[in-house]
Amino acid sequence: MESFATRLKTAMGARHLKQVDIVHAAERAGVKLGKSHISQYVGGKTIPRTETLRFLADTLGVDEEWLLGHDTPPASRSQPVAASISPASSQQHATSDHPIILSEEGIPMRQFHKSTKLDNVLYDVRGPVVDEAARMEEAGMHVLKLNIGNPAPFGFRTPDEVVYDMSRQLTDTEGYSASKGLFSARKAIMQYAQLKNIPNVGIEDIYTGNGVSELINLSMSALLDDGDEVLVPSPDYPLWTACVNLAGGTAVHYVCDEQSEWYPDIDDMRSKITDRTVAIVLINPNNPTGALYPPEVLQQIVDLAREHQLMIFSDEIYDRLVMDGLKHVSIASMAPDLFCVTFSGLSKSHMIAGYRVGWMVLSGNKRIAKDYIEGLNMLANMRICSNVPAQSIVQTALGGHQSVNDYIVPGGRIHDQRDYIYNALNSIDGVTAVKPKAAFYIFPKLDVKKFNITDDEEFALDLLHDKRILITRGGGFNWQEPDHFRIVYLPRIEVLKDAVDKLTDFLSYYRQ
Ligand SMILES: Cc1ncc(COP(=O)(O)O)c(C=O)c1O
Repeated sequence: MESFATRLKTAMGARHLKQVDIVHAAERAGVKLGKSHISQYVGGKTIPRTETLRFLADTLGVDEEWLLGHDTPPASRSQPVAASISPASSQQHATSDHPIILSEEGIPMRQFHKSTKLDNVLYDVRGPVVDEAARMEEAGMHVLKLNIGNPAPFGFRTPDEVVYDMSRQLTDTEGYSASKGLFSARKAIMQYAQLKNIPNVGIEDIYTGNGVSELINLSMSALLDDGDEVLVPSPDYPLWTACVNLAGGTAVHYVCDEQSEWYPDIDDMRSKITDRTVAIVLINPNNPTGALYPPEVLQQIVDLAREHQLMIFSDEIYDRLVMDGLKHVSIASMAPDLFCVTFSGLSKSHMIAGYRVGWMVLSGNKRIAKDYIEGLNMLANMRICSNVPAQSIVQTALGGHQSVNDYIVPGGRIHDQRDYIYNALNSIDGVTAVKPKAAFYIFPKLDVKKFNITDDEEFALDLLHDKRILITRGGGFNWQEPDHFRIVYLPRIEVLKDAVDKLTDFLSYYRQ
């Protein structure tokens, strides 16, 4: 028979708890248990009285008899008190979501959990509803995916010239490049920045990345200390909120106003600025709303950033997918005295999301960001460089004929699909949508009273189960009300029509 001390040490070890953790848990539970007591138990000098034994067993999620050394297998408790313990020196701890796993001998086993840094991280674009869709597909069902902005599966092919040029350069791109990227790629990006009137950009101010995604992560990691605040739009492309929070910062959401073409609500933005605010994030053109911000709106944001000495991060990955003869203006072009970081890439405008190439451009007043730039360089060096074959086609893609232009004019697929989905959604009773001006997303509003909707994830799951259509719920974009969802209108009109017919039928009977 094992001793009480041995069993106690085993159970504590399995949970990665130290003596001090038990003492703190006892304090919180109002149980009298000092450090000297616990060290006596662990040292095998004494065994506890009944009440203390019960507390220890509950805390460790094991059976009292087992703890005493008896051979009866310990009963697993579904909600161990240990869930409330935060180990002082270990990130491993049990929670009520993670019931104890016992070995064949009945001993609690150490489990490995994800970092608590991920607690505030949300990425529903590939989240639980998507997992359910995958399960349904595995079971042989066809699911129509309107959830992800990946052009290739919908027949938007990479221009032949780009594929050809990459194939020609494959043997020259076997090695690492400079960490910021190939000179030719950065030169082409620099010239692109010049065309967009972004001021004070040299070749050293350009960083290529494995998509804009990598650079969003890198730029936030290099900047934020715990508690620093960044103003992020709501709704947003959720990677921004996730990366701010992962970097230890706090994403503070400013509202974009559906009544005003989904433009940022400047008063709300202003009201959210505190002494901890470091930067404003802008997504323009916007995912998920399809909004394009005019210069008057951008000017107000610049004024606010100037007044409060804030940095501006502008995600402009959809800047070449603008319709109705409108023109995209880079906010950095209006803020030569501020420090700005502008993001773009080829995933959307060149329909080559899979090659993974994006970039960021530092501009304006770089003197005030010397130290931050050092941090960016450090992180850029640490990831060595971005995918080099993909960098090799940046020059080809940015110069010459822009095949995307054919998609965004009347008769072009993006344009016509946008018109179709906008009209079709607005003709459904209980659905309204603002007309997107750019990108390939629409963010319709549901009449929650009519459909009695209180949970948008449930709405997305119900639609998936009933009609096999996969959309992303508004909450997935850090939108606080359960009244929106996003549709990616990349599929051809026939497919969109089928989806709208099914959605119309679904909403004719759906009540949550
Ligand atoms: C606004 C926005 N930024 C960045 C990204 C990521 O792009 P990339 O493929 O360059 O990583 C996306 C992808 O959907 C996006 O919508």
